[in-house]
Amino acid sequence: MDYMRAAKKLIRKLLPAPMEVRALRARHTYQMNRIPRLEVNPIALPESAAYSLSELFGEDMANEWNAANQTIDEVFEYVDRTEAVCPGERRALWYLIRRFAPQRVLEVGTHIAGSTLYMAMALKANGIPSRFVTVDLLDVNDARIWAPNGLSESPRDMLARLDCAQTVEFAVRSSLDYLAGCQAEFDFIFLDGDHSASNLYREIPLALEALAPGGHLLMHDYYPSLRSPIEDGGVIPGPYLAVERFRREGSGLAALPLGSLPWPTKLGTNASSLALLVRE
Ligand SMILES: C[S@@+](CC[C@H](N)C(=O)[O-])C[C@H]1O[C@@H](n2cnc3c(N)ncnc32)[C@H](O)[C@@H]1O
Repeated sequence: MDYMRAAKKLIRKLLPAPMEVRALRARHTYQMNRIPRLEVNPIALPESAAYSLSELFGEDMANEWNAANQTIDEVFEYVDRTEAVCPGERRALWYLIRRFAPQRVLEVGTHIAGSTLYMAMALKANGIPSRFVTVDLLDVNDARIWAPNGLSESPRDMLARLDCAQTVEFAVRSSLDYLAGCQAEFDFIFLDGDHSASNLYREIPLALEALAPGGHLLMHDYYPSLRSPIEDGGVIPGPYLAVERFRREGSGLAALPLGSLPWPTKLGTNASSLALLVRE
């Protein structure tokens, strides 16, 4: 992992930013286009007009959020060098789960449970019986996985300390395997696993099949037009390229980027790369 990070840093240093993005785009597009056209059915999704981002992130929840955040901070040692969602985006996830009040939640990409803890706490605050499945290729509760990421206890133990462990099921599978065999429906799905365009081109149709009518599908690392909202920031092209291919293929699927949030996110900005998928 450290080797990969160092290699990416070197490439960014050597190539001017637009060239780096062009190279990434070409590589992801080439891999994705080797997959024959897939059908995707966005019928379960709301249209973008159904969302009011200012209401979703309204001030009225600020006090409750501050209290929840303080509680989580006592058990979660956020390690900035890992690939967890940033603090401001974790706040957005907490708000979305509180506002949408889903009963059944699926997360792809548990990692150090940066997002998992916040969604689980929001589900607990909703006070309705819920089920939360979080899927990762790796066994994130194995000390060989969590300890090198700087945690002093496993995601499962952190959830237990927050009194959320009974709601959360860990699935150690690839998301494609999990979704292909999935009999359950979910009201909220968060995709934050393999961000390659070729994976997302296959993952999105399966996630939509598992989504209950009117459910919400949120993606991480969606960079509209492959531009970073942060000066000199990098982009992860896969999520955008996969959605663009579905759009070109006339699927009726589109993305609603959450854009700038009303609170700080990373590197002194309010920028987020979260996006809801919507029906056009
Ligand atoms: C960016 S991290 C997720 C960060 C996490 N949401 C957080 O905030 O802590 C991506 C995770 O997805 C997992 N992953 C990668 N490919 C996957 C796949 N095909 N299926 C399931 N999980 C995958 C990785 O093992 C990694 O833990």
